Amino acid sequence: MTREPSAQDGDPSNAIVSTASDDDVLIRARGVNVAFGSKKILENLSLDVRRGEILGFVGPSGAGKSVLLRTILGLNPKQGGSIEVFGIDYHEASEREKLSVERRWGVLFQQGALFSALTVAENIEVPMREYLDLSPKLMRELTRLKIDLVGLAPDAIDKYPSELSGGMIKRAALARALALDPEIVFLDEPTSGLDPIGAAEFDQLIMTLRDTLGLSVYMVTHDLDSLFQACDRIAVLGDRKVLVEGPLSKMLDYDHPWVKSYFHGKRARTVVTDDAAPAPSPAYDGAA
Ligand SMILES: Nc1ncnc2c1ncn2[C@@H]1O[C@H](COP(=O)(O)OP(=O)(O)O)[C@@H](O)[C@H]1O
Ligand SMILES: [Mg+2]
Repeated sequence: MTREPSAQDGDPSNAIVSTASDDDVLIRARGVNVAFGSKKILENLSLDVRRGEILGFVGPSGAGKSVLLRTILGLNPKQGGSIEVFGIDYHEASEREKLSVERRWGVLFQQGALFSALTVAENIEVPMREYLDLSPKLMRELTRLKIDLVGLAPDAIDKYPSELSGGMIKRAALARALALDPEIVFLDEPTSGLDPIGAAEFDQLIMTLRDTLGLSVYMVTHDLDSLFQACDRIAVLGDRKVLVEGPLSKMLDYDHPWVKSYFHGKRARTVVTDDAAPAPSPAYDGAA
C-alpha cells in the first residue's frame, strides 16, 4: 500500500511516501515539532521505522538525535505533530495504554547505560520488577537467558559495572533493554567508546538478534562501520528534520552538503568496499 504524505508534511521534500503496510510500520512520526523555549530543535520532522529492520539514525552532533529519541519515548514534550508507536500515540495515550507500549520497547540510553550500585543481574531485573510479577527464581532464570543471549559469560551475572569492560557494559545494558522481550530496541550511540573490534562485535550481535528474534532496532550512531554493515535503512537528521531516509545507496546519491561530506568524506572512504557500496565520488570539500 502506498501512503500519501500527510497534510502535516508541508514541505514536499520532507514528505515520506512509504511503501510499507501499516503492520510493517512500528513507528510513524509526522510533522513533529520540538523546541526548548524559543530554541527550535525539530521542525516538521517525519520518519517511519519498520518492523524487523535496523534503522541507523545519523546527523551532526547536537542536531537533536537524542531529543527525538526521548520525544518518541514520551520523556520529552513535543509542540506539534504526531508520533505513533505500535499504532498508539504515546503522548495522547491513557496510563494503561502507556504501560502496554512500554512493555513492548527496550532502551539503551546514551548516558548511564547501567546502575553502578547494582550487579548485572540486578540491573537486568529492574524492568522485570517494574513491569512483571515474577518470582525471584524465575526472574533469575530469565536473567541468565538474557546474559547468554547477549554473549556475556555466565559469571558476569554477579559483577558490578565497574568490574566490566566497556564492551561488556554495553552488552549488559542491551540485556536489560531486552529484559521484557521487546519488539523494538532504541540504542543511542551504543558503540561509542568501544574499539573497532568491540564495535563490530556489537553490530554483529544486533544483526543476529534481528535475524533470530525478528527484533526491530532504532540505532542512533556516529559509527560509519555500523551504518555500512549493520543498518538496513538510514535516516539523516539535518536542518531540524529528517532530510532523507532509505538504503545506503540513497545516502550516497543524496545532494546535501552534510550528507555528502559524511558519506563521501575521508572516514567514509576507509569503510566503503566494493561489495558494500558503489565507489565514492571525489572528496567533498565543502563546509559540513
Ligand atoms: N532538556 C533540554 N533543555 C534544553 N535544551 C536541550 C535539552 N535537551 C537537549 N537540548 C538541546 O537540544 C539540542 C540537541 O541535543 P541532542 O538531541 O542531545 O543532540 P544529538 O543529536 O547530539 O543527540 C542541543 O542543542 C541541546 O543542547
Ligand atoms: Mg545524542
